[in-house]
Amino acid sequence: MTSDIVITNPDATSQDLERLARFESQAFNYSAEASLEWLRAQHEWGGVRVARRGGRVVGGLVRIPMAQFFGGRAVSMDGVAGVAISPTERGRGVAKQLMGTTLKEMRRRRVAVSTLYPSTYQLYGSLGYGRAGARYRMSLPLARLGRVKTSAVEIREMEPKDERAVERFYRRRALSHNGWLDRGGYIWARVRNPRGGTPFGYVVERPTPKGPQLEGYVYYLHHPSNGLPYELQMHDVQFATPEAGQRLLALMSDYATVADRACWYGGADDALLHSLLEQGARQELSELWMLRIVHLEAALEERGYPRGPDLSLEFEVRDGLLRANSGRWRLVIGRGRGTVERVRGPRSSAASARSAKLDICDLASLYSGHIRARTLAELGRLDARPSVVDSLEAVFCGPAPSLPDYF
Ligand SMILES: CC(C)(COP(=O)(O)OP(=O)(O)OC[C@H]1O[C@@H](n2cnc3c(N)ncnc32)[C@H](O)[C@@H]1OP(=O)(O)O)[C@@H](O)C(=O)NCCC(=O)NCCS
Repeated sequence: MTSDIVITNPDATSQDLERLARFESQAFNYSAEASLEWLRAQHEWGGVRVARRGGRVVGGLVRIPMAQFFGGRAVSMDGVAGVAISPTERGRGVAKQLMGTTLKEMRRRRVAVSTLYPSTYQLYGSLGYGRAGARYRMSLPLARLGRVKTSAVEIREMEPKDERAVERFYRRRALSHNGWLDRGGYIWARVRNPRGGTPFGYVVERPTPKGPQLEGYVYYLHHPSNGLPYELQMHDVQFATPEAGQRLLALMSDYATVADRACWYGGADDALLHSLLEQGARQELSELWMLRIVHLEAALEERGYPRGPDLSLEFEVRDGLLRANSGRWRLVIGRGRGTVERVRGPRSSAASARSAKLDICDLASLYSGHIRARTLAELGRLDARPSVVDSLEAVFCGPAPSLPDYF
């Protein structure tokens, strides 16, 4: 069925991009013009991948190189966005082949993991992605907030000269959140130029003898952009001290006469939500994201681990697509870092008893900390004796993985 499908890139012509833009526009309900503008921008640096049948484009996707934090270290990651297949070509294996070829290309470039927001678990699950973290939507009725007052810190409009400091501030915070992005230009452009218009940006600073210290910032839009009341859509809000958190809440409460609610995205342990003194805000699961271990050694070596006694773990991994990940591996952890080596030689029963046996998609859920080893074992997706399960739980523990950004 799929033998006449060819995946080519990055040689898409402008006609190819126009055709793909129509599929993107139909799939994701954006205008064809906006889809084309987006595709052209990604094509400029080589991010677009297309599938052809008989020379004609029948689908495509965009690959976004970034990194993602796990265990306090940045892991190289390619995000995948805009997977769209022509409505007349669906159900014929095009997406599977397009994604499979793209994953093999990532592996050749030694990208450690790939992450995406799935519209269906089955398609990406069959390609080795596992559910790996959550994105929650917070919604706060401003009338419930009351008037918030604070004076220890000051707020002012963000200026272009603040941008580098804001990026460093975000990165310092993101480091300790499993799953948060080490944002590249693509994500910062979305934060600063979201599709809905030009956002407002404010920074919160503490006056000190050495000059003002950045303690928080926010970017937000009004939605809808005309008329009252509106919603404050905060697409990036960060703070590092209680006073800065209160100042950002005060900014919101001062809108209560014209805006009915403030919304933002984050994890289960969202700090702004936790700053609220009273109930009334809603926290809803917006979606789960999926992760694929593309290069097993890179993925296990690039991330950080809890600092504790040195530990050695053995895995027996099955990967039907990226077969170089399959087989027996030893992960040795010391001083918060891991090294990986392939286990060679005949399989003994003693060695087999030491191993954790699982599929690559389940390793992804374990790796991010989304699912506990014990839960995987209970589901029959991890075969390991109890002492190995305990070690896995100790190694892949941490804050529940989240990902406030969408791509
Ligand atoms: C989702 C989409 C990309 C799938 O493309 P496709 O070429 O039809 O997918 P494939 O034929 O390669 O399907 C491979 C496997 O994925 C799964 N799958 C595909 N479409 C699915 C759907 N709509 N619902 C559930 N599973 C699906 C199936 O397991 C399928 O295997 P099977 O046919 O052996 O059962 C396509 O329908 C599309 O463009 N939809 C609109 C946009 C969209 O949802 N994009 C994904 C964004 S993450």
